[in-house]
Amino acid sequence: MGRHRSAAPLDQELDTLTRRLSAALGADVRVACAPILDDDPITDLLPEEAEAVAKAVPKRRREFAVGRRLARALLRALGFPPGPLLVRHDRSPQWPRGAIGAITHTRGLCIVVAARGGPDEALGVDVEPRDDLKAELQPLVCTPSEIRWIESYPEEDRGRLAKLIFSAKETLYKCQHPLTGTFLGFHQAEVTLCPSDGRFEARILHPVAARLGDLPMEGTVIEMESWIVTAMRWPPGPNGSGASAPSIGDRDA
Ligand SMILES: CC(C)(COP(=O)(O)OP(=O)(O)OC[C@H]1O[C@@H](n2cnc3c(N)ncnc32)[C@H](O)[C@@H]1OP(=O)(O)O)[C@@H](O)C(=O)NCCC(=O)NCCS
Repeated sequence: MGRHRSAAPLDQELDTLTRRLSAALGADVRVACAPILDDDPITDLLPEEAEAVAKAVPKRRREFAVGRRLARALLRALGFPPGPLLVRHDRSPQWPRGAIGAITHTRGLCIVVAARGGPDEALGVDVEPRDDLKAELQPLVCTPSEIRWIESYPEEDRGRLAKLIFSAKETLYKCQHPLTGTFLGFHQAEVTLCPSDGRFEARILHPVAARLGDLPMEGTVIEMESWIVTAMRWPPGPNGSGASAPSIGDRDA
């Protein structure tokens, strides 16, 4: 990505994304977005963090390093003492006591969200390249009723809508996992996209849902020029985490 774009439009796009995510998640949630550059020298991983990716390929080390860099900066801004952000056995980040957060990366971009929060609170975020989910993958990701919904749209929109559902489920997974400790497959959750207001609702189709009570699970969907981003918080804010998100159709360059 960084190879074919000049820095200014990318910076602008990331600023816009940061603002939109902050607006959607709430003023208490810190958001950081940064490019992952092929020539990042990765000099700032703390020893315990470096150990976690010692055997990883350079691409993985770079995305991990940018995520840790952003997360540590957000934690500092939230008033936490400096220290490594360790990796739990299930691959999730071990946020310090009193902090919640989530990390995502895709080709060339990393996003981290973090806030002060207790064990009953969580954040989720996911970024994907803004392209279509291949037709053969759609039934693996989407439940039969999601497929029926997708098929109510013209053929040219279906791959994009399926990709949005995919991303919403990844966000849901990251948000629910710290709360329930439960692995959920793609058919163990159902997403309803609300294309007119940039939001999604999610339902967990697994007994573990009872642990989260009957509050609606809601998230925000942001479509940028190059990426789609979904995010949510638990419990939802007063108007749901996507309350102030612009519509799915909005485009920011
Ligand atoms: C965990 C998972 C969601 C990560 O998504 P991904 O597209 O591979 O990668 P992303 O870049 O968006 O996210 C990776 C980050 O997720 C975080 N993560 C990994 N496992 C996690 C977990 N169990 N809980 C919360 N966050 C987790 C990590 O911070 C990781 O980055 P890092 O290793 O650099 O710290 C995905 O690998 C997975 O296991 N999915 C299957 C379950 C699922 O999605 N179910 C959907 C129905 S709810």
